[in-house]
Amino acid sequence: MAEPLRGEGFTLADGDLVLRPMTEQDLDSVFLWSDDPENLWFAEHELVQRRTPDRLRASYREISATPAELCIVEVAGIPVGAALLRQMSLPRLHRAFSDRDCRRVDLQLARPWRNQGIGRRAVRLLTAHGFGAGAEFQFGCDISSENHPGLRVFKANRFAAWRRRAHPAGAGWPTTWDLVCRPEYFFGRAPVKDHPGADQVMAADLPTGATVVVYREDPEVLIFMLHRAHQGPAYEGDWARTPPAGARFPAEPIEECACRELSEEIGAEIPPSDLHLVRGGDAEWWVYSLALAPGADVVLDEEDDRFEWLGPGEDLARCRPEAPRNGLAMAISSIRDG
Ligand SMILES: CC(C)(COP(=O)(O)OP(=O)(O)OC[C@H]1O[C@@H](n2cnc3c(N)ncnc32)[C@H](O)[C@@H]1OP(=O)(O)O)[C@@H](O)C(=O)NCCC(=O)NCCS
Repeated sequence: MAEPLRGEGFTLADGDLVLRPMTEQDLDSVFLWSDDPENLWFAEHELVQRRTPDRLRASYREISATPAELCIVEVAGIPVGAALLRQMSLPRLHRAFSDRDCRRVDLQLARPWRNQGIGRRAVRLLTAHGFGAGAEFQFGCDISSENHPGLRVFKANRFAAWRRRAHPAGAGWPTTWDLVCRPEYFFGRAPVKDHPGADQVMAADLPTGATVVVYREDPEVLIFMLHRAHQGPAYEGDWARTPPAGARFPAEPIEECACRELSEEIGAEIPPSDLHLVRGGDAEWWVYSLALAPGADVVLDEEDDRFEWLGPGEDLARCRPEAPRNGLAMAISSIRDG
């Protein structure tokens, strides 16, 4: 059985906001804060579950042994919430970041204290502490797309999308986010500019983004083409049809941008080592190719309404404007040349 909480660890402060070590005596309050049907803190298997006080106590003791820092958030000496900074234990992130120091930030405030800027400040304190303590990446995990305050406090602290996953049927919200924070962006060393899309920010340095020309051999080479949904199914103009592509986040390695776009746009989870670089160097927009197994499933997100596999002689010129079409032509030559 895991040891009781010993109340050891760091204390962080920002004016009247203090994060101090959690003790066994705090757990009754933590139970009351978490026993809130709207609270997504104890989302297990991506569905909210209530816990008994004993189960919560056991769970916090287990977490503290992982190792993890368990904190109480106080404002002017009043306990208002709980925060965790722990080593990453989610298998999907272990797989993707093996050998790297990845940590996870979680936060839960008592309902009367929400929406006053406390969450944003607490996440900033914890994230800065995590990087100072050696974290290479920090994550906000399993945040529902309907949890607007949750997404905002992390994004305000320069966490950016890592993966978006569809929820199982019946979960009550469409998608769940894992957000990643990289130190170059967090500490303001990565150039940033506005992005017109939902993500709002993108890298201001090169490369701007990546295209992945997905193909399969069946036995001829067939090229995968998405049709974007936002202007309607009949739209055929610029950006109507392109391979999977997207802009890079500040400080995001370009091959991770490519893998993230593939995950979002076609539901394919592939390691960067599976990508073949077609155009890189000082190009503004990098191009990769990826061979997809003939039977592999394609799962579209809401950005796209359909896809096609185009063979030789089929109208690849419908991919426009010129920028993505040039990259597509380069990739097709490289694929055909073997
Ligand atoms: C998520 C949580 C920690 C945020 O803390 P908080 O102190 O309420 O957050 P802040 O006041 O710092 O910021 C909330 C932001 O959400 C915005 N917001 C609040 N309600 C919103 C809504 N319904 N729709 C859109 N935005 C909303 C606020 O305007 C604010 O954004 P801004 O700073 O850009 O103005 C808190 O709501 C909470 O404890 N929720 C339950 C646990 C949880 O979901 N944790 C997150 C996953 S670990």
